[in-house]
Amino acid sequence: MAYYYNDVSRTFSEYLLVPNLTRTDCLPGNIDLKTPLVKYKRGEEPSLALNIPFVSAIMQSVSDDKLAIALARCGGLSFIYCSQPIHQQAEMIKRVKRFKAGFVISDSSLTPEHTLKDVIELREKTGHSTIAITEDGTPATRLMGIVTSRDYRISRDPESKKVKEFMTPFSKLIVGKEGISLSEANDIIWDHKLNCLPIIDNNQNLLYLVFRKDYDEHKMNPNELLDLEKRFLVGAGINTRDYKERVPELVKAGADILCIDSSDGYSEWQKNTIEYIKQEYSGVKVGGGNVVDKEGFMYLVDAGADFVKVGIGGGSICITREQKGIGRGQASAVIEVAKARDEYYEKTGIYVPICSDGGIVYDYHMVLALAMGADFIMMGRYFARFDESPGKKIKLGNSYVKEYWGEGSDRARNWQRYDLGEGAKLHFEEGVDSYVPYAGRLQGNLEVTLNKIKSTMCSCGAITIEELQKNARISLVSSTSIVEGGAHDVILKENNF
Ligand code: IMP
Repeated sequence: MAYYYNDVSRTFSEYLLVPNLTRTDCLPGNIDLKTPLVKYKRGEEPSLALNIPFVSAIMQSVSDDKLAIALARCGGLSFIYCSQPIHQQAEMIKRVKRFKAGFVISDSSLTPEHTLKDVIELREKTGHSTIAITEDGTPATRLMGIVTSRDYRISRDPESKKVKEFMTPFSKLIVGKEGISLSEANDIIWDHKLNCLPIIDNNQNLLYLVFRKDYDEHKMNPNELLDLEKRFLVGAGINTRDYKERVPELVKAGADILCIDSSDGYSEWQKNTIEYIKQEYSGVKVGGGNVVDKEGFMYLVDAGADFVKVGIGGGSICITREQKGIGRGQASAVIEVAKARDEYYEKTGIYVPICSDGGIVYDYHMVLALAMGADFIMMGRYFARFDESPGKKIKLGNSYVKEYWGEGSDRARNWQRYDLGEGAKLHFEEGVDSYVPYAGRLQGNLEVTLNKIKSTMCSCGAITIEELQKNARISLVSSTSIVEGGAHDVILKENNF
């Protein structure tokens, strides 16, 4: 006879947090959101931790190098998607590791022979008014000068005027030399009242531009997630098919942690993959998943997983439950796996972090996931809305949207994620191709979310995630009280200006 669960499969919207005593030290400024990323022994520190409890989904429409940089800047981590050729994924990892906060590789360059017309067109295309003038017009050759909007007057200068006639020539530029630190570059910027400092090598080739505004931004990011060499941390997705070829390239490229990307992680494919990595690359950290119960969790822990990802069927673009009838409410899954994690810790002294993956609709769902025991949260839809995600921004009616498509959709065709060992084919779709409302830049949105989380934690009497997990009081809600949760019995004023 089949096994029947006694409990209903529940999701986050069915729960609310009941406030606990707010101590006087429960101030948003005192809250520490640091959380373990990989397993560790009692009394020791995890070798990798996050400064905020967020990671971005292993998806084409979410985690490329650009989003990885933006998120690491704020203290979280991206897992660069693996449904792409190995060399391409490795190149994205390298770009994150090479990125030096505040040191920008010019994306606007011309030659001295170009004209004012070219300058205006480029400025319109990139939105950047500082243009590097190089020998052959590519970003990394000999720097000949710089053009900014202060160098020309569109109303007076003819469009045919050559760049060499109005640029600030190299001889008059103040530049920094290769190897300069960001704070040294900033001192030069301040001493000479510059907006931009070009950094060159010994042969006068342009390496980077340092902008005054970027330094200020860097200063505002105390949470940056950095390795020992002050490079951003970055993760990479892998699959259970080509890991023997993919893993070495990702490790060589500098990936700090790997995660198997699979819709169903309770499988011998995952065990084989984790065991291979642990045997061949003993120092490399790898997460497994997704699972939704104690058995799945313990199976991956026994295989050697450094963290375990939880969630089947709850993703916003996911149609797995409709297509296959498998899955579990995200809250029920997190609650059961967290209990198993705690029991395992109690018994062995080894703490294996768990990640709640998918199904976050409101910011308060994040606090619920953490309170229920998740150490960190993976999100796709949330990050797909931002400028930094790879999806195209499109105008739809009166508003802007961004494209967001599932890995199991026909568009992504990530058959490895759904593979049951029978060849390179996506037999049917488990995800959709969709739009999400465009929300602007990652940093500003994340700040609002974090402020909400901190405020809720204060109400729950917690200033760390660990304390939240201990002090949270959680109640199921009736459908009638859900109605009470939003604005009700009032006539909302129109918001369309
Ligand atoms: P979201 O944050 O609710 O949008 O969920 C993102 C999560 O959905 C990802 O981290 C994956 O675990 C999962 N996912 C990604 N693509 C698909 C798909 O095509 N079908 C089902 N689940 C998916």
